Amino acid sequence: MCGIVGAIAQRPVVEILLEGLRRLEYRGYDSAGVAVLDANNTIQRTRALGRVAALEEKLQQQPARGMVGISHTRWATHGEPSERNAHPHLSSNHIAIVHNGIIENYEELREALISKGYHFESETDTEVVAHLIEETLKTESSLFDAVKAATKQLRGAYALGVISPDEPDTLIATRKGSPLIVGLGLGENFIGSDVQAMLPVTNRFIYLENGDFVKLSRHSVEIFDTEGKKLDRPIKESKACSLDSDLGEFRHYMMKEIHEQPQSVQNTLEGRLGRDTIKQCIEGENVLETLQQVKEVQIIACGTSYHAGLIARYWLESMTDISCSVEVASEYRYRRQPQRDGVLFVTISQSGETADTLAALEKAKSNKCLATLTICNVAESSLIRESDLSLMTVAGAEIGVASTKAFTTQLVCLQLLVGLLAQANGDSLGVVANIVTNLKKLPVLLESVLDKDAEIEILAEHFAEKNHALFLGRGDQYPVAMEGALKLKEISYIHAEAYPAGELKHGPLALVDNEMPIVAVAPNTTLIEKLKSNLEEVRSRGGELYLFADKKVGISQKDNIHVVEMEDVPETIAPIIYTIPLQLLSYYVAVLKGTDVDKPRNLAKSVTVE
Ligand code: M6R
Repeated sequence: MCGIVGAIAQRPVVEILLEGLRRLEYRGYDSAGVAVLDANNTIQRTRALGRVAALEEKLQQQPARGMVGISHTRWATHGEPSERNAHPHLSSNHIAIVHNGIIENYEELREALISKGYHFESETDTEVVAHLIEETLKTESSLFDAVKAATKQLRGAYALGVISPDEPDTLIATRKGSPLIVGLGLGENFIGSDVQAMLPVTNRFIYLENGDFVKLSRHSVEIFDTEGKKLDRPIKESKACSLDSDLGEFRHYMMKEIHEQPQSVQNTLEGRLGRDTIKQCIEGENVLETLQQVKEVQIIACGTSYHAGLIARYWLESMTDISCSVEVASEYRYRRQPQRDGVLFVTISQSGETADTLAALEKAKSNKCLATLTICNVAESSLIRESDLSLMTVAGAEIGVASTKAFTTQLVCLQLLVGLLAQANGDSLGVVANIVTNLKKLPVLLESVLDKDAEIEILAEHFAEKNHALFLGRGDQYPVAMEGALKLKEISYIHAEAYPAGELKHGPLALVDNEMPIVAVAPNTTLIEKLKSNLEEVRSRGGELYLFADKKVGISQKDNIHVVEMEDVPETIAPIIYTIPLQLLSYYVAVLKGTDVDKPRNLAKSVTVE
């Protein structure tokens, strides 16, 4: 998604801005640009379609130099990816602006500005904001006041960075809905969409709140609210370290991250398991008292994180008497829900910045739930800061857009949460001891699934020429099948859908022929006999089956059944283990198809717009 980096310094800032943009590349984008105020106090803008490397190349051919500047990586929302639509956007070489978010009322503002004589060069909603600031400057006495007045007219979400030759020693920024962080240096200050962008120049940050307006100079940072009242926001020293961008022996980050899973699961468990108890590992106040009052868990997330939530529902309801509902954030946030007592509201997110999940959390807080808890991989993220309680995944930085190790560590945390809820409420079923025993086995079992790598690579050849695939599972393996289908879709661009296997005969069976590969996950669980019958229904209609099956369930290789035999694993951790072969399958299919595995088309790592 769009990334912002801005700097005001006593040294040239272009290289700082470019390095910041490189560090935001993992978020996904389609064009990039930079604008600085040069020695003649003129805006110098350079933009390029494609990668930051293309922007760098342009800057090498035509260097820009300035001590204040803004820069941007764009993930297109309004208007195609092109140089013309790339940020920064200008208003008559007098205002330069970068924007992350979506301005919902941009069409009406655009019409009004055109009628006042403004000329638009791009199709973006952002250019509207540039002209609006220019227009308000006619009546306001400073750039800061003009930004404040202009944003009053905006509906939607935004993080903005603004510079103007009128005030060459000032950088103005504001946010509402989209994240923006101020970085504090010595004689220089910065803005960025996340701390990664600014780590080479500082580790001291101020996390802006919705409605904050900031005036940055080289020696000062002043923050105001919408009423103009000066605010004192805390300065945080970040412990975040730079993304480990070393690919090592791997060709893609996705594959590196798949192989890191035994270690990231081990790291997520580190210090959290007793002999047969789970140690209190949730951050926040009154954790035990809160867990004892929980009557219901409501889980909200998006994409892969949503699939983790779906698996947790099976776990929670089979191991405790606490009911659980799971919903995607983009639906939940706009749906009326009756208030209930004792709801623990859980959000799950790798990035902690997903706009829909953040909005859902806001809504839950206004609905007065018992407490909010976030399971997240980024300690200083917005979701963590906004939640009462947090439980960290310790996956390490995930760079590939397709989530892998974040998912399996989320599942580990969810199982810890289920165990902690059982433990806090007097666990009469021995649930906690069972969870602890099985989680301790997990890292080694994950290593052994990764050994299937070569076998799965061969299997992938059957998929590369196909246009569609079905994924089947039953019980807590159904969301595993959903996750497998999502992985195949996002990186190989093959259309894939997941079904609970028992549902096939109610419609999807009509799709089955030898052009439709059918993937199923078949651990040795209580539902295995049911699943076997469903698979027979497919086979007898000419379907080609690809099974990841426990060696004890007795499904053997036949003409139209390809079986990858899996070790016998405990039922409670089977969803975590059976995820791995599906990740490997998608990866190898994508490699065969020659797609951009780590940065699949149209997608972004951190989805900061609605
Ligand atoms: O950072 P989050 O976990 O909140 O992100 C949610 C989804 O955007 C994310 O899981 C997405 O579905 C992944 N690309 C899936 O691989």
